[in-house]
Amino acid sequence: MQKCDDPVVLDQWYAVCAEDELVDGVVNTRLLGAELCCGREPGGKPVVTADGSPVPVRQRYGFVWTTLGTPARDVFDIEESREPDRRYVPCGWITLRTSPGRVVENFLDMAHFPFVHTGILGGDANTEVAKYQAEIRHDVDEVWATNCRFFQPQVSAATEGAYAQLTYRVPAPYMVMLYRVSPVDPSRRDAIALFIQPIAEDLCRAQPVMYLVDPDSEHTDLLHFEQIIFLQDRIIVENQRPLLLPLEPREEIPTRADSSSVTYRRWLKSKGLRWGALPFTQVHPSKEGSR
Ligand SMILES: [Fe+2]
Repeated sequence: MQKCDDPVVLDQWYAVCAEDELVDGVVNTRLLGAELCCGREPGGKPVVTADGSPVPVRQRYGFVWTTLGTPARDVFDIEESREPDRRYVPCGWITLRTSPGRVVENFLDMAHFPFVHTGILGGDANTEVAKYQAEIRHDVDEVWATNCRFFQPQVSAATEGAYAQLTYRVPAPYMVMLYRVSPVDPSRRDAIALFIQPIAEDLCRAQPVMYLVDPDSEHTDLLHFEQIIFLQDRIIVENQRPLLLPLEPREEIPTRADSSSVTYRRWLKSKGLRWGALPFTQVHPSKEGSR
């Protein structure tokens, strides 16, 4: 498998296994084309090697994180993880045969709710994406989309239909989060992260990890709700072409609903990101010829 040589992608932290996966031994997996082995020292501290060489390790949010480069920052902060009354729901790894950028972009996209998550996150009667704001926050070097509202027939595991109030955050090129005003306590926001582990340019696995304000729902109900949604997303995202994320603005015609996607691609392009994306300078003869 071809190894990643893109410093933008290498110099990031990635969650590569849940800590409880190490209870029974080692986890062999792959990251950016390298063979990873995750295990524990005799004292219990996780250790990770990439192609046989030790690599840095962090423990955050119940996961072992590593990097194949030299990140300028630590693993991004999820402040909701420190609130002890929240429900912590890691939802399990799901393998996706597409690029990590496509997975991020699908997570940011509200327009597909009525068509892909019919009866759950959207319905035929409410298909319009209202205007929202998407921006690159240069002070923190993240992408945020705010003021997002969408009518959802079933906002969470336990509630009926309502306008979900959503905020999206892209804290690293291949990580993404959603904050949702809690259906059971509107003064607080549920935090839902998607930890993406890029394996190859067109192959990754991802795990939703939720910190919810929901004292009453059964754990399995919370888990199954999110798993159903994510499996619906997998079908869609694996069928998008090209598999690599186009950074060239001409490639796909944006609409107002795509503002977060356009901002995300612009952010990646400004970083000079190459791995997992179609380069900005690539010319497509069929499109060029039709002008
Ligand atoms: Fe979706």
